[in-house]
Amino acid sequence: MKSFMMQGAKILSTGSAVPNFSLNNYEMSEIVNTSHEWIFTRTGIEERRLLTGTKKSVTDLAIMASRNALNKISMDPQDIDLIILATSSPNDLFGSASQVQSELNAVNAVAFDLTAACSGFVLGIVTAYQFLQNGSYRNVLVIGADVLSKWIDWSDRSTCILFGDAAGATVLQSCSKEDNSILEFQLNTDGNYANHLSIAYKEEINPHPILNLYQGSFKYVSMNGKEVYKFAVSQVPLSILKCLNSLNISVGDIDWLLLHQANERILKAVAEKLSISENKIIANLSKYGNTSAASIPLALDEAIQDKKICHNDIIVISGFGAGLTWGTIIMKWKSL
Ligand code: UT7
Repeated sequence: MKSFMMQGAKILSTGSAVPNFSLNNYEMSEIVNTSHEWIFTRTGIEERRLLTGTKKSVTDLAIMASRNALNKISMDPQDIDLIILATSSPNDLFGSASQVQSELNAVNAVAFDLTAACSGFVLGIVTAYQFLQNGSYRNVLVIGADVLSKWIDWSDRSTCILFGDAAGATVLQSCSKEDNSILEFQLNTDGNYANHLSIAYKEEINPHPILNLYQGSFKYVSMNGKEVYKFAVSQVPLSILKCLNSLNISVGDIDWLLLHQANERILKAVAEKLSISENKIIANLSKYGNTSAASIPLALDEAIQDKKICHNDIIVISGFGAGLTWGTIIMKWKSL
């Protein structure tokens, strides 16, 4: 344990990875009873990437995205102190972060998974921030990665059209308070509505004959889309406003709105509720669909590569989804 001096934290680098295989809405309509028009008008999605082939898992994407982020700043993986892998689709229920640590040769890093579905990346950044702020660690790799295609019922048109596979990674480093990038955050959970979006564990009917012990398996993604939609559009603006109020800044100060890429209609509705102009919305879901924990770091990485985000820009980042969980981070972007 090191000092408890309060420090700042900033993002040094971002990276991302998507599978090569792309499935567009026309191809999707050959798999389930749907159409490009329905999917595009209701969600804004045109295509999504899927991790096909055998022995491929979320760790492959997480490792690619991490290498991409580390290479951009020529950081030696041995300098990473902590790896947080936000995922709801690990390839090992005990956690997949240690496999990422091993493959990266990040021998000095402690690594753990964080499960909070589509809010996972936001919670991962806030968790990393605590370790950086209190001086415990200097370099933290936060990854958001999901391969929900493995947990989808491919005959359920209400869910299979939505999701895609991807990973995004960010390298955070502690810094002086003056250079601090994470201005405010706000996190929430309401477990009363957990059943609106879940991958439930179901016990089999027949118990072990001697032990009366029931075992089972996980089912497919199940979602009450209408309820999740209403929740997102009502709660996310409130979360953003709480953050802005506590910072004493106004919506007019926001340069970019980076929300979890669930549905274009949600992005626009949240922006409209807050009177944020549509050209400040960062959106890439038309190409990738809803990539769960990966969606925010993937969109952030693209926006940085496209040179949209500039030094000292204020970015509002909000995640929302299963749990139900939701949360906001207000960031002041610091270019290297
Ligand atoms: O990542 C976590 C956060 N997730 C979200 O934020 C998702 C939030 N929810 C949504 O984005 C939307 O609710 C959906 C895109 C999932 C669904 O859109 P909707 O406008 O709420 O549609 P709906 O579920 O009310 O369905 C409307 C109609 C239904 O037919 P009827 O009952 O009106 O005859 C559905 O059966 O559309 C039908 N439908 C489809 N039709 C063609 C549902 N899925 C499809 C489909 N293709 N894929």
